[in-house]
Amino acid sequence: MSKYDLIIRGGTVVTAADTIRADVAIHAGRIVAVADRLSGGTREIDAGGLLVMPGGIDSHVHLAQPAFGGPAMADDFESGTRSAIAGGTTTILPFALQPRGASLRQSVLDYHKEADGKSYCDYGFHLIISDPTPSVLGQELPALVADGYTSFKVFMTYDDLVLNDRQLLEVFDCARDCGALVMVHCEGYDAIRFMTEKLERAGKTAPYYHAASRPASVEREATHRAISHAELVEVPIMIVHVSGREPMEQIRWAQQKGLKVYGETCPQYIALTADDLKGLNMDESGGKYVCSPPPRDRASWDAIWEGIRTGVFQTFSSDHCPFFYEGNQGKLNPKARTSFRWVPNGIPGVETRLQILFSKGVVEGRITLNDFVALTSTNHAKMYGLYPGKGSIAPGFDADIVIWDPNRKETIRQELMHHGADYTPYEGIAVTGWPIMTILRGKLVAEEGRILGTPGRGRFLKRSLSPFAEPRHS
Ligand code: URP
Ligand code: ZN
Ligand code: ZN
Ligand code: ZN
Repeated sequence: MSKYDLIIRGGTVVTAADTIRADVAIHAGRIVAVADRLSGGTREIDAGGLLVMPGGIDSHVHLAQPAFGGPAMADDFESGTRSAIAGGTTTILPFALQPRGASLRQSVLDYHKEADGKSYCDYGFHLIISDPTPSVLGQELPALVADGYTSFKVFMTYDDLVLNDRQLLEVFDCARDCGALVMVHCEGYDAIRFMTEKLERAGKTAPYYHAASRPASVEREATHRAISHAELVEVPIMIVHVSGREPMEQIRWAQQKGLKVYGETCPQYIALTADDLKGLNMDESGGKYVCSPPPRDRASWDAIWEGIRTGVFQTFSSDHCPFFYEGNQGKLNPKARTSFRWVPNGIPGVETRLQILFSKGVVEGRITLNDFVALTSTNHAKMYGLYPGKGSIAPGFDADIVIWDPNRKETIRQELMHHGADYTPYEGIAVTGWPIMTILRGKLVAEEGRILGTPGRGRFLKRSLSPFAEPRHS
């Protein structure tokens, strides 16, 4: 009888700490040995010349969120997670969104209905709190945190989601008591509304003006305000989808002051610019790139790299939030053509996150292989209560692995994608480095773009408290 179910032989095993030539033995879905010349596997995979890395963990993904009168998302759990595994990601943390007036527990149950039996990869949920009533803060959130939903997201903009300062403070205080980590969307609602109305009055309604309606100062101000509120309440926060220098510097300033402020950035902020929102000639195709915060400019890319290299950012997530481009349910639905204000915000990217960071980061010499693993997997697991167990290659960890060809050259194209959307905003970007095989708890679930896994194999992950957000009472 074989000792192991699977041996991955002859690859270069990369973790956040080490790069070593070793075989990896897997049994019953777990990694059981990492050593030279292992034998006794029922199956073997030859990983000669390839990298063997922890499967990607994407801690910022939107799937099957409600439409709020706009178009529905282009991905449900089935297509979104299919796209994830095709791109080398084995765990995602999407959001369970509480519509105003709804119970948070009921919202979570609704998302489970969307996800259960459909997911190709493992998943947990962050809780989006849009209505922090006394019963949500006093009863629902503490109970949900105890049940493994150990992180929240709050918004400082969007009509249906925005919290005022008092509400932010209330949620922060609750998170502090529960030991939950709060992700904050930092853009100032009033400033955006003011700018939007002003642009519309001037007839500036093309998608490009989405970026003009929420410039860096709007993100910087909200970032500073969130940090100040977190300082007041003494709660750790994670500033998500940071787009450039100004908010990055606010986070760095807070970190240098000793505050527990963490940072996340995304592919769009090192691969796209506001010029993409112009389309070919200030036309509607710019709508493909409408997301918030908007991509900025090339100088912002440099600032993001500075933040990545110097440890301001802990996680690199996709902020996958897909909509169709064409059609009445698309980004350019009839209402959206009247103003950028109605173009749904968000772009797909769960399948291309690793390739973009690997190519621009590792291949172009900006980060090490170990940094890459930390930014795409290990730090997500640590930050959001999945570590140990997920996020490394070591005995006892889940056998979630991406086998990666560091030399493979590809051009990102819609035909290669497995998502539900009808476009990728990264069309035409040439990358070096591509996932060859994705292994979820010991089973090969994707190989060279072919999906071998099945929907429903992905499991719900009940998460521990983040060690970055210990509960504190006052
Ligand atoms: O435009 C974006 N990023 N849409 C997704 C929602 C969010 O704010 O993360
Ligand atoms: Zn956001
Ligand atoms: Zn998002
Ligand atoms: Zn307290």
